[in-house]
Amino acid sequence: MKVGIGILGGGTVGGSLLQYLIDEKAAIVAKTGLELEVRRVAVRSLSKARTFTIPADLITDQPAQLVDDPAIDLVVEVMGGRDPAGDLVLRALQAGKPVVTANKELVAARGAELIQRAEEKGVSLLFEAAVGGGIPIIRPLSESLAGERITRVLGIVNGTTNYILSRMSDENLSFADALEEAQVLGFAEADPTADISGADAAAKAAILASLAFGTWISVDSVFREGIESLEPIDMRFAGDLGYLPKLLAVCEETAEGVSARVHPTLVPLDHPLASVRGAHNAVFVEGPQVGELLFMGPGAGGGPTATAVLGDVIDAARELLAEAQVAPRIRFAPGRLRDFGEIETKWYVRLEVTDAPGVLAKIAGVFGEAGVSIKSVWQEGRGDDATLLMITHDALEANQRAAVAALHSLDVVTEVAATIRVQSDEP
Ligand code: NAP
Ligand code: HSE
Repeated sequence: MKVGIGILGGGTVGGSLLQYLIDEKAAIVAKTGLELEVRRVAVRSLSKARTFTIPADLITDQPAQLVDDPAIDLVVEVMGGRDPAGDLVLRALQAGKPVVTANKELVAARGAELIQRAEEKGVSLLFEAAVGGGIPIIRPLSESLAGERITRVLGIVNGTTNYILSRMSDENLSFADALEEAQVLGFAEADPTADISGADAAAKAAILASLAFGTWISVDSVFREGIESLEPIDMRFAGDLGYLPKLLAVCEETAEGVSARVHPTLVPLDHPLASVRGAHNAVFVEGPQVGELLFMGPGAGGGPTATAVLGDVIDAARELLAEAQVAPRIRFAPGRLRDFGEIETKWYVRLEVTDAPGVLAKIAGVFGEAGVSIKSVWQEGRGDDATLLMITHDALEANQRAAVAALHSLDVVTEVAATIRVQSDEP
């Protein structure tokens, strides 16, 4: 049974998908009974040099024509960005064509609208590859675990930053050197802003939280902090204290509401996420019935991501051939969104201080007045070079910030040199 596929985008993911669909056509037919025939591939530039061949009868620079082509039954969007990808996806859904996309930026920004349009038209909008590259995580959340009351989704969802942080920790590289290395090796894009600022991870966190909790969470509601300001000295101190820095996405549902956040986090060295190195991703999903699940693997790259796209294509093609009126996998209801200030977090704080009697008491007093309890304190150096490292207990994020703001005006503190949140389920 033949299904005509149109691919919007012939880059890293689109190229891998095209190659796979051509090379493995017979194997896919044998395994699934589906003949997935690529009938058009849209790119921006017809003359661009590529490491793979897009057959001349398939390539076009007219993406809207691809969508409208009656020979195209199913549209794959792997061009990236919000525009024109969003309107093209909408156009395909409007025409009753199922859409598969890997575009987390688009899904996080316009997912609610696109899912609604897909429902109105009775077709699928699938986006397994939008989070975690080759790791199946969207389908487990929206199908296998659809009946579970998920309480937390926690993990590493950006390969570029995980690679950079691994190199900074393992080889003591500066942020700039680790980033340059990631670019040379092709992990980081020429413009790595979305990765290092946490925007890429925030879009993924918004999608994961929305599916996990059944409340659509806009990417603008995700608290975000990137890794740009992390310094090698804190990598060293963190290691000495038994932690490793990771950019974590943390999505939670409690009786008070739902929340999603992305920020650098010190993870205990014996936590399973500490062993996730290089460009890999790993996501924990927790719920009262299922307990703790871990999904791990390559979070980026043409091959792994194309595999996830292909799984969705096969799913959507089966529905198409069954002439099924498709209902959305998850329905979204309004929910209370918690302000980040209401969330309890632990902090690591590095202070440059005057080394004199009574200094620690003054600093502890500031934390105490803000309602933050200190778990541990260490001192490095003496005299004018004294550094205090502190780890607090869990306290309201708003109180942690108030304490740090007050430290800035304390005469014995010469600099609040670093603050990093700490992941730990210990009290
Ligand atoms: P890419 O290598 O930059 O490829 C983008 C493709 O889309 C290129 O072929 C480009 O054409 C084409 N394109 C862009 N704008 C266009 C326009 N206005 N009209 C027609 N064609 C247009 O991107 P990618 O890495 O494959 O990523 C694609 C999507 O997958 C993104 O949403 C990304 O976030 C997501 N994703 C990527 C990865 C990964 O590891 N790369 C992993 C997970 C998800 P030209 O070739 O002519 O420039
Ligand atoms: N830029 C992303 C990452 C890959 O580094 O994880 C696409 O999701």
